[in-house]
Amino acid sequence: MSDFDTVLVVDFGAQYAQLIARRVREAHVYSEIVPHTITAAEVAARNPVGVILSGGPKSVHVAGAPGLDPEVFELDVPLLGICYGAQLVAASLGGTVARTGRGEYGRTALEVDAPSALFEVAGGQSVWMSHGDSIVGVPEGFAATARSAEAPVAALESPARRIFGVQFHPEVVHTPRGQELLARFLHDVCGARPTWTMTSIIESQVEAVRDQVGAERVICGLSGGVDSAVAAALVHKAVGEQLTCVYVDTGLMREGESDQVVETFRRHHGIELVHVRAAERFFERLAGVVDPEEKRKAIGERFIREFEVAAQGLSDARFLVQGTLYPDVIESGTPDAARIKSHHNVGGLPADLDFELVEPLRALFKDEVRRVGEELGLPPEIVWRQPFPGPGLGVRVLGEVTPERLAVLRHADAIVREEIKAAGLEREIWQAFAVLAADIRSVGVMGDERTYASPVILRAVTSDDAMTADWARLPHELLERLSSRIVNEVPGVNRVAYDITSKPPGTIEWE
Ligand code: XMP
Repeated sequence: MSDFDTVLVVDFGAQYAQLIARRVREAHVYSEIVPHTITAAEVAARNPVGVILSGGPKSVHVAGAPGLDPEVFELDVPLLGICYGAQLVAASLGGTVARTGRGEYGRTALEVDAPSALFEVAGGQSVWMSHGDSIVGVPEGFAATARSAEAPVAALESPARRIFGVQFHPEVVHTPRGQELLARFLHDVCGARPTWTMTSIIESQVEAVRDQVGAERVICGLSGGVDSAVAAALVHKAVGEQLTCVYVDTGLMREGESDQVVETFRRHHGIELVHVRAAERFFERLAGVVDPEEKRKAIGERFIREFEVAAQGLSDARFLVQGTLYPDVIESGTPDAARIKSHHNVGGLPADLDFELVEPLRALFKDEVRRVGEELGLPPEIVWRQPFPGPGLGVRVLGEVTPERLAVLRHADAIVREEIKAAGLEREIWQAFAVLAADIRSVGVMGDERTYASPVILRAVTSDDAMTADWARLPHELLERLSSRIVNEVPGVNRVAYDITSKPPGTIEWE
């Protein structure tokens, strides 16, 4: 992203670093996450306007605690240490970090001594703390600028060296003036230009795609999901008719989904779209398959075959668009950032397909991808869509997948989506869906009739990244409406259960 002023966020703990990087971008400054093993020469080579050291789970006193090349402090690039990063500043430059045995966790009262580069006004404010050790002595040339009950040095600075540290977390929403502090650091101290806007992101990516692709033909596989949709719209803006999209309709999609993809891309955006109607071939392949991993394999292989056949018809294509996002590519020195989901590649394509990849979303976080999608005029139903697994409803019919069972599940799922949306919970909830326990039957009574049919299980979870999740505390009235609508409206279902298992120990999907 050479067109943009860049701030490097040094990673001492993955989730902290990602949140800081996102907050920097919300201040319209481009940020990149780098591992803490980066050398001063490597930092200098990237020519950043500022460096931020993230928080981390370790204590600076623990053997093997992650460090930083001390030469980074000598680069004359403005630097802000946050939490662990602030302690590292103090410990590396001659200050004292003590194991006081009295940490602070959660909302904490901060007292700012005087207005300074980071703090606009003196006085009290509320901040979010999470520390065991405390900085008790500042390095030479530094001043302590704020304190809290257990942190005699809750902020330190050397305006002359342009090095700063804060013990609290300005990046979290529980620090109400945190974003303001980050903005002061970025704009006033670093002099970073606020040019990272949706318009300029789109412009720079459009230019990059044009440079890469030239006059060649490009293929993009659409899954119905947000990432491939936004990537396709962006590439289309860049190279127009050189783009052909392929949509493999597996028959395992949700109600209305295939129509919506075709409608949006072909009619609305005028994008050339090959619509592969492969449902029958998928059902054939899935007959008798019960084991979840076997199902994934069967669906994945069929998908690749279908895509290959479609691509053969476009034999002049040299480029393939992929909706890879920034969290997938972050180079990181911390082991907890190695988040590889091996089973999540269904719907993905093998590396040996003979294409050069075009990845226009490689620098973006998910929330940025959504905003780019909105800016490009994609409908909210696509842009704000909840995550959906590559094997689709295939892993939500427990046991063998048949067209009949799938029709029952699709109907129940449509009711869940409709009611969650009507309750205004669509964006707040990570995923909400129905699962059909097709091999189980239970007795019920409807009118005067005895029924003997299958249950639908409702699953609704809150999550930040799908690595962990909690079951959503849906309002009882909503659960009641879902239960009564599903049993009344979906033939073949006579009972509704709600899954109250978190992840871990459960997973989000049932298969
Ligand atoms: P689990 O069930 O592992 O799911 O807690 C975590 C997230 O991944 C999605 N998921 C998949 N996505 N192919 C995908 O592309 C898959 O095979 C697959 N299995 C689960 C799931 O919906 C959740 O968002």
